[in-house]
Amino acid sequence: MSLLEYYQENKFNPVPIEVSDDLNWQMQIQKRRNLYDNHLGIPLNLLKDKNIIEFGCNSGENALVLAHYGANLTLVEPNDIVLPRLHKLFQQHKLKHKIEELVNTDINSFQTEKKFDLVIAEGFVNCLENRDEVVIKLLKLLKTGGILIISFDDRYGSLLECTRQLVLHRCLRLNSIKNVHSEKSLSIAKQLFNEDFMQINTSRPFKAWWQDGLINPYFSANILWSFQELLPLVAKNNAVISSCSPKWNITDYYSWYKNIETDTEKHQRFISSWNKYAFEYFLTGIKPNLCTPVEPSSSVLSDTRLLLDNISSYIKQDSLNTQQIIYPDSLDKYLSNSGNETINRFNQELKDLFAQIMHPSATSESIIKNYHSKKRLRKLWGCPYHYVSFTKE
Ligand SMILES: C[S@@+](CC[C@H](N)C(=O)[O-])C[C@H]1O[C@@H](n2cnc3c(N)ncnc32)[C@H](O)[C@@H]1O
Repeated sequence: MSLLEYYQENKFNPVPIEVSDDLNWQMQIQKRRNLYDNHLGIPLNLLKDKNIIEFGCNSGENALVLAHYGANLTLVEPNDIVLPRLHKLFQQHKLKHKIEELVNTDINSFQTEKKFDLVIAEGFVNCLENRDEVVIKLLKLLKTGGILIISFDDRYGSLLECTRQLVLHRCLRLNSIKNVHSEKSLSIAKQLFNEDFMQINTSRPFKAWWQDGLINPYFSANILWSFQELLPLVAKNNAVISSCSPKWNITDYYSWYKNIETDTEKHQRFISSWNKYAFEYFLTGIKPNLCTPVEPSSSVLSDTRLLLDNISSYIKQDSLNTQQIIYPDSLDKYLSNSGNETINRFNQELKDLFAQIMHPSATSESIIKNYHSKKRLRKLWGCPYHYVSFTKE
């Protein structure tokens, strides 16, 4: 089953963003404007009459903002369940004339001879088996100088999200709840996470996060991606990274525009900035200490990856037993050396959480109690979701 089939089979809209009243609509405009203008360096005001194609546009709430700024849209969405809402929203906002074409198909089947100023594919490319090929296809749809925006779930940034998945699945198993899609599963997820979820600035309801994140079989280790894989792929295909959100590439700061660098140097600078400043930030969401960055060794990265793989195997009910999910020593040592008190506390809490939840004598009640006692960890969400823009040379 693919991610798309999961959405279709369970008949749900994964990201129904509320835009029906003026307040929510203005909020949606502001969020997208912040993303485009401030983080990705693409002023929405300059998109008037530009030709944009968006794949996986879902019910169109993001495309609606582009239409509002005057862009001409080609929309490609394979899940027909969400299309009535898309039509309704464009009708309500009197923007239907900005849709040049709406194609009900998936990214692999879609064909066109046209080239676009902006190509967008948010929230699914990393889940596709042929994701490298798809990125190359997306780049080919750009005019020279055009921009590709994709978003993806980062491997290291998803450690906390995957830990929350594990906590829920362990509770479900201890309660003999086999159907993870059941009301009982939702109710335990709410007991565990609802209070904390309500504190974060999110565009979606708890139930949609539960379905799309916590119990989505596609949100597992094999769909996670990383800048370290993505950047070389794009570099080989005549494009260069322009920007990202969250903005973690701090080496741009204080640089002088007359100091021109080659594309290779730019890619290299992103990679080295990632090594120095991103890992700890991606894991926790806490801004790093810029004065004394500590680079993770290759074993920290590979042990963290193994932990994620093991969490995923446990959730998929492979033969893995609970004792095989062990918080890595290398990660423990790395985080203990960060010199940041908050990171140290987070590390202690995460280590203890893994030890407790995977303990053979754990019960659902003891896990919920233990999770709720992790005051620092509960406020952290890591940095799972990343947007990145690339310019075609
Ligand atoms: C998590 S939602 C993201 C929706 C929207 N792009 C956003 O970022 O808010 C993923 C979207 O990608 C679509 N999708 C999944 N597989 C796809 C594929 N193979 N080709 C095109 N779209 C796909 C889904 O139907 C859904 O609309």
